This record gives sequence, structure tokens and C-alpha cells, in this order.
Amino acid sequence: MCGIVGFVGKKQAAPVLLDGLSKLEYRGYDSAGLAVRNGEDEPVIVKAKGRLKDLAEKTDEGKAVFGGCGIGHTRWATHGEPSENNAHPHCSDDMNVVGVHNGIIENYQELKEKLQHHDYTFYSQTDTEVAIKLIDYYYKKYQVGPIDAIAKTMVRVRGSYAIAVMFKDYPGQIYVARKDSPMVIGIKDGQTYMASDVPAILKYTNQIYYIGNLEMARLDEGKVTFFNLDGDEVEKELVTIDWDAEAAEKGGYEHFMMKEIHEQPKVLEDTINSVVKKSGKSLEVDLTEIGITEEELKNVSDIVIAACGSAYHTGMVDQYVIEDLAKVPVRVELASEFRYRKPLLNPNTLVIVVSQSGETADTLAALREAKSRGNKVLAIVNVVGSSIAREADYVFQTLAGPEISVATTKAYSCQLVAGYILAIALAKAKGQLDEKKENELLTEMRSLPAKIEKILDEKERLQWFASKFSNVHDVFYIGRGIDYAICLEGSLKLKEISYIHSEAYAAGELKHGTISLIEDGTLVIGVLTQSGLFEKTVSNMVEVKSRGAYLCGVTSYGNYSLEDTADFSIYVPKTDEHFAASLAVIPLQLIGYYISVSRGLDVDKPRNLAKSVTVE
Ligand code: G6P
Repeated sequence: MCGIVGFVGKKQAAPVLLDGLSKLEYRGYDSAGLAVRNGEDEPVIVKAKGRLKDLAEKTDEGKAVFGGCGIGHTRWATHGEPSENNAHPHCSDDMNVVGVHNGIIENYQELKEKLQHHDYTFYSQTDTEVAIKLIDYYYKKYQVGPIDAIAKTMVRVRGSYAIAVMFKDYPGQIYVARKDSPMVIGIKDGQTYMASDVPAILKYTNQIYYIGNLEMARLDEGKVTFFNLDGDEVEKELVTIDWDAEAAEKGGYEHFMMKEIHEQPKVLEDTINSVVKKSGKSLEVDLTEIGITEEELKNVSDIVIAACGSAYHTGMVDQYVIEDLAKVPVRVELASEFRYRKPLLNPNTLVIVVSQSGETADTLAALREAKSRGNKVLAIVNVVGSSIAREADYVFQTLAGPEISVATTKAYSCQLVAGYILAIALAKAKGQLDEKKENELLTEMRSLPAKIEKILDEKERLQWFASKFSNVHDVFYIGRGIDYAICLEGSLKLKEISYIHSEAYAAGELKHGTISLIEDGTLVIGVLTQSGLFEKTVSNMVEVKSRGAYLCGVTSYGNYSLEDTADFSIYVPKTDEHFAASLAVIPLQLIGYYISVSRGLDVDKPRNLAKSVTVE
């Protein structure tokens, strides 16, 4: 969603804010703004519609705005169209309070009416302006300090927020508060930084505080003081982040997405090695870091997986893998549905939530729903210290590092292997897998990174294929079983960055209606990695070919009979079929990427999307 940054220190704030915002632009990007204060002067507010570069131009890369204390924002519109007027920062009419906000104030309409009764007027359509003016109202009405005024506002608003404000009477200070929206605060050499995500300030410091839910903080030069909702000071631990700043830069690739696709072998290896250990001559899963015991796994009656987007697609793969290996029933739910449909959970149901950011509002709500029912929750999560990582009972930390491209690739791949590893551990705990088979599976899993390298080595062929199809209108991805789950991800990758309509279908289901959409030249991509289902999917491909479809097939080396049916065949190395998604998804990621590039689109920042969706 939106991104926020703040800075208090001896340097000029504006260049730091612009630099931080550039690392957050993937979160939201229809407008941007900053407010900078020089000593006791009133803050100068500059806003621009469009990309961050427009704001950078308007401020001469920040050089035209003086002062060492400031806040900045990139917006992904929720309330009110993208415009300069609706862009943040927002302020009270007398500039007493100036602030930026990420999240949604659900009862903003009611609060706006309340303020209108007290003679407040509004210049924008945003919920943020209401929040800022409510702080101003409490500050003046009760004649309290900033922390009390913010606390009163926090009690009154419903929704989610990470908010940063400056008060006219408190030069050199920024006040922040959060509920259900991420925020980190960093310190280094007498300077204080704040942002909605670590990459925004990583260049300046890796010494980070995570502000808790419903907490506030006061940022002074080189100093942070935390407060709870009662206004009492609370202590926080300073955490050292071991991601390096370079990991959040493009490193020679044209786009973050391509860089992240190429990082997959390395991050998979890291993720596997963090929990797969040598025991004598064999490999085994070591659950210590995750925090769950073999006994607890043994007692699991069934599993519910809740997630959104690509993370949900990894859950679809897990469903097949866990049921097949561990013989434990698995249900996969969209987190946005799970949270409201009063799901039936047994006392021993293990709920698994999957999330790259650890901040997705619906996934976090699913976690809380499960916990409120007394169920244990295991999170597969990439961002250390995120809300989901902190609130789950057990955490499988994926080691994808910072992922910047909005379309996920390396985090998705790490989530997949985390699922395989949990399936193997569960199968062992349930007595479905002996040590020999466990070792075989883990050994094969460790060969996945090298096999992905091999697919990446052959990417030029896919570039050629993608350039031929960059103007198609509809694409269908079909497959059965795990192949269907891979299709879901392949189709999402294509549509989110190329804006081409695409659908994933269970191959056998296409003929029940959707086949009517197939016409001459429609591109149909079949995924066929599961030997037991190969012939069945080939038959479904033949059905669409006879209606004019152009067929592309993705299968394993050796299945050359595919060429009798498909117009274009893509081969990936053979692996244990439970792990097929990890290989077959790579060409699909590359096809999505190349089609987006050949259409001249903004691959890393596709329209209308946000990397981390912290609203429902
Ligand atoms: C957004 C992103 C998707 C992602 C989904 C879930 O929609 O654009 O790429 O899969 O959120 O995000 P999470 O951080 O929970 O994995």
C-alpha cells in the first residue's frame, strides 16, 4: 500500500526522504509528497501527482527544501482519486499538525461529521486528512501534549494505520503511531529514521526498532522514546538486520523482477539449509528454529492453510504434497474468505498462514481468527519482525531477502520449499515416511537450485516465444493436480505485469463452459509434470487445439511425445514430482516477464497493484 518515511537529524531531510521513498515506491505510486521543517519554521509541504520522479524534479532532488526534520509519503489511492490535492502530507488549517498515513480509517466519515460540527472544513477526500484534524482537535480541546492527543485519536479511530506527524510547537520531533500497518524505526550516528519497510532506510542503518501494535513513539535527533496507549514509556529492543543494502538494489539487472528470478537458486539453498541438517550420513528436517516439536506435529488432526495471492497458490501446492506424503487432510482458504466465514476448526487443526510481507491484512486477520479459536498457527513468512511473524505460535522464516518487484518470484519459491519441508516433517511425525525416504526427498530437494540454474541458462528461447505472443488477448493455463496449482501462479504472473487477460483452469474443467472462449490463435499453456496425469492433460490440450488454440506445453525432459500435440514445448529437469512446481514455475515467470517487457510496461511496478496489501 502506501509507503511512509521520516527523518530527524543533522543532514538535510528531503534527499533522505526521497531516497527512502524510492525504495518504497513499489508499495504505492500514484502520487507522492513530503513535508520538511527547518528549525522552528513552519513545515514546507511539496506534493506531486504521478511517480516519485515528479516530486524529485519539483524539489530539485530535495535540494530546494531545507531542514533536518521531515516526513514523506508515496500514495496508493484508497479514498479519493490520485491527485495533488489528495496526496499526503495532510495538515490542519493552521499547520498545527502535519502528517502522513498508511492504512485505512474505517470510520472516517463519522469522524469527519463530528469535526465539521466543530467548524473544521476539509480540502481533500482522504481519510488521512480526517485523522490529522482529529489529532489537532484533541490537542487543542484538552490542551495536552502530542502523545496524549495521538492516543485519544487512536482510541477513537477504527481501521489500520501507520502514521507520522509533526506538531508546530515541537520542532525537531516526529511523532508516530501504528496499528496493523508496518513501521520500523532506525538509529545511526545521532540521526533517526522511520519507514514502513526496512529497505527504505537500510542504506543508512541496520539498527532497527519494531514499534508494537497500538504503540506510539517520539523521534528526536538520534533518539527514540516509545509509549503505550496509556502514554507510559515502554522499552524496545534494538534489532540488527542482516540484509545488506545491495540486496535491495538492482545489481546490474534491468528490473528487480529479473534480478529476483535469478536469485532463486541462492535463496532456495539458504532456506533449505536453514532447516535441513546432516544427521550422520543422512539429511533430516531440524524443527528447532521453527519452534514446533515432532510430538506437536504428531497430534495435528488436519491442516487449514490461509493466504492471499501467490502465497495462496503455494498453499494449493502444499495441499497436494502434504496429503500425499503425510496423509493428513488439508484445506486451502483465501485468507479474505477464511476470516469471515466462521470456519470449522478441530481442536487439533493446525492453521498455516503464508505471507511474504507478514503484513497482509487478510492473512493477519486469519491468523488472529484462528488464535482466538484456540488453534495453533504456524506462519511461513519472509519479513523478520513483521506482525505475522510476531503473532504466530511457530515461524518458518523463509530467507528470500528483500523482494522489491511487486510480482513475487523468489519469495513464492521459498514459500514452496517451506511447504515441502513441513510436509516431510509431518509425514515423518505421522509415521508415513522412514529415514531413508526422508533422506531421498531432502537430497532431491537440495538439487532444486542447480536445476533452476539450468532453466535460467536457457531463457533466451522463452524470450523469443514471449515476443511472438506479446499482443495476445487471452491466455489459458491448464493442468491437473500440482500442475493446476502451478497454472494458478503462471496465470497470475502474466496478468499482473502484462495486463493480458489470463485464466488458470483445472484441465478437466475447461470443457464445462470456458472452452467456448477458445478461438483461432488463443494461447493455451499446458503444464504436464505429473506422470500419472500426463495423458489426461494431453487429451484436454487436443480438445482446445481442435478449436484453433495455439498450444504451448511445459513438461520434464524425456516427455518428448508432447511435441506430437504442442506447437511449442518447454522442458524442465526431472525431479521428484512433489517438487515439480519449483521448476515448472520458472519458465512461466520468465514468460510473464518477457511479455511485459516486450509490451513496454513497467514490470516492477504494475498499475493498480501494491506489494504489501495492508487493507482488506
Ligand atoms: C499482494 C502482492 C502479491 C502477493 C499478495 C500476498 O497482492 O501483489 O504478489 O502474493 O499480496 O502477499 P504476502 O505478503 O502476504 O505474501
